Amino acid sequence: MSCRDPHSYTDLDQGRVVHMDLDLNVDFDTHRMTGTAALKLAAPVGGPLDLDTRDLDINKVTTGDGAEVPFALGERDEVMGSRLRLQLPEGTQQVVIHYATSPEASALQWLEPAQTDGKRHPYLFSQCQAIHARSVIPAQDSPLARFTFHAKMTVPEALTVVMAAAPGEAGAGAESGTRSFTFEMPQSIPPYLFAFAVGNIVSKDLGPRSRVYTEPETLEKAAWEFAEVDGMLTAAEEVFGPYLWDRFDFLVMPASFPYGGMENPRLTFLTPTLLAGDRSLVNVLAHELAHSWTGNLVTNATIDDFWLNEGFTVWAERRILENLEGEEAKALGAAIGRNGLNEALAEFGPDSPFTRLKTDGKGKDPDEFYSLVPYEKGFLLVSLFEQAAGREKFDAFIKKYIDHFKFTSITTEEFLEFLEQELPGVAEQVDAKRWIYQSGLPDNAPQFTSARLEMLQNLARGWTDGLRPDPREGASWSPEDWQIFLQELPRKLPLDDCAWLDENFHLTEQGNAEILCNWLIIAANSGYEPAFDRIRSFLSEVGRMKYLKPLYSALYGNEKTKTMAVEIFADNAGSYHPIARGGLERILAS
Ligand code: BES
Ligand code: ZN
Repeated sequence: MSCRDPHSYTDLDQGRVVHMDLDLNVDFDTHRMTGTAALKLAAPVGGPLDLDTRDLDINKVTTGDGAEVPFALGERDEVMGSRLRLQLPEGTQQVVIHYATSPEASALQWLEPAQTDGKRHPYLFSQCQAIHARSVIPAQDSPLARFTFHAKMTVPEALTVVMAAAPGEAGAGAESGTRSFTFEMPQSIPPYLFAFAVGNIVSKDLGPRSRVYTEPETLEKAAWEFAEVDGMLTAAEEVFGPYLWDRFDFLVMPASFPYGGMENPRLTFLTPTLLAGDRSLVNVLAHELAHSWTGNLVTNATIDDFWLNEGFTVWAERRILENLEGEEAKALGAAIGRNGLNEALAEFGPDSPFTRLKTDGKGKDPDEFYSLVPYEKGFLLVSLFEQAAGREKFDAFIKKYIDHFKFTSITTEEFLEFLEQELPGVAEQVDAKRWIYQSGLPDNAPQFTSARLEMLQNLARGWTDGLRPDPREGASWSPEDWQIFLQELPRKLPLDDCAWLDENFHLTEQGNAEILCNWLIIAANSGYEPAFDRIRSFLSEVGRMKYLKPLYSALYGNEKTKTMAVEIFADNAGSYHPIARGGLERILAS
C-alpha cells in the first residue's frame, strides 16, 4: 500500500483523484450542505478506492454512467474520521457521491446573524487545514493527492458565496429564493486548501491583481489597512519568481475565525484583529501571500513536514518586509518570533519530540500539536542556510526550488536531497540533520539584532532593577516596539507596576490586538483587577486562538482568576470556532 500519509486513508495505488465537480446546497436552517461530489480519476481503475470522510452522510454512489457503486463506511476514528471504501467496477474513471455534511462538520462554522458585523444575515465559512476537508468533501484528504475542481454552490438569495477559486457565473438557483454561484480552480491544490465562505460579502479593488472582500461594515477599514498589497505582491515575486495563481484576493473574516490568516489560494482568509488602524499587522498578509509559493506551489507531503510550509514562509515573510521596510523591521519581527519560540520550547520541554522539525504525528490530532516550533525553529534553519550559502546563491536556490517542485507535495528528505544537489555542503555546514531530527534549539541558532531591539530589551530586562521607559518616549513607540517590550517584561508584575504602566500608556484601552493581548496576559498573571473587564470583553470579541489560548492559560493558572476563566469560557464557548473550543477545553481541563 502506498499510503505515505499517516493522517489519511488514501492509497494512491488504488487510483488518484485528479478533479472534482461539486454541486452543493447550503441550508442555514439545518446547518447542512447537501449535494454531489463527482470525482474523476487520473485513469480508469477497478476494485477498492478508499476516501477520507468525517461525519458525512453518504446516500448513494454511482459511476459516471449511473451504475450503483457498493460502498462501506468504516468505524469513526477520533483523529482520522471514517474510511469510505468504494468498490469500483473495472474501468471506472468517474464516481458520483451523493452526500450531506453534518451540522458538526469540523471544517465548518455556522454563524448566527448576531455573530457577524452586520447582525442581519447568517454566515458560514470553512477552515480545512490540516485534516478537516474530509468533513466537507469525500476526498483523498492528503496533501499528496492534488486535484483541480469546479464547484456550484446554492445559497439563500440574500447571500454571496466566495471561494478560493476563480469565480464564474452567479444566477437564480433552481429553487425559488436561492442563488447559485460557480467557481473554477484550474491549478491543482492539496485538499486542505479547499475553502469558501457564505454571507453578506462585498468587495473593493485594491490593485490590478487584488481585491478585499468583507462584510459591508468592515470594507473601508480593511481596504485602508491592506492598501499596500500590490507592492507586497511585487516584492514577493522578486523573492520567489512569478505569481502563478492569477489573482491574490483576500477575505476579512468574522471575529470567530480561529487563525491569524489562512493561505487559501486566490482568496486568503484573514482575522479582523489585523485591523489595527495603523497597518502594523500587515506581516500576516505578507505571510499568507508568501505561502502562494512555499506551501501552495511547493506543499508539505504530510503534516510531519509542516515546517517546509511554515518555516520557509516565515523566512519569506520577513524577507519581504526587509525589502519593503528595511533590516530593523526584520530584526524586530525575528525577535517577536524568537520570544514565541522560547515559550513553545519551554512549554513542550527541551526533549519533547514536538520540538523537532520533522515530526511523527501518527495517531495524533494535528490541531493538538500545532505550535510555533515549525514556524520559528524552521525560520532559523532557513536563515542559517541563507547565511551559509550567501544571499545571492540562496536567492537563486529559492527560485529554482520553487520552479523545480511547483504543484507537487514533497517530504523533508526530498528537500534535503535537492539542497545537497544545488548547494553542496551547506546542510552539513549548519548541522541541518540535528536541527531537523532532534529536539530543542541547537547552539548555532542565528541571532538578529538591531540598536533599537537592544534598547527595548535592556529597558525591559532592567524592570526589576527599577528601570522605566520615559512616558513621553513610550508614547511614540511603534506597535512592534510595544510588543517586544511587553514580551520581555516579567510575566508577573507587582500591582503598583501594572498600575504605573496602565496610567502612563493606557494599555487596557489599546486598540492594537497584539499589544493588548501581551498586556492582558501580564495583567492576568499579576491579578491586576482594573484590566479584568477588558479581559472579559476581549475574550468575548475575538476567536483567534493565538489570543484565546495564552489568555485562558494565564487566567486558569492563577488561583485568583481560575473560576473567572471557567465562567468566561461558559459564556462564550458557543460562539468560538469548534477547533478553538476544543483547544480551550484541553487548557481548562488541565
Ligand atoms: N497555514 C497557517 C494557518 C494554519 C496552520 C491553519 C495549521 C490550520 C493548521 C497560516 O499560514 C498561518 O501560519 N497563520 C499564522 C500567521 C502568522 C504566522 C503570521 C496565524 O494564524 O497566526
Ligand atoms: Zn503559515
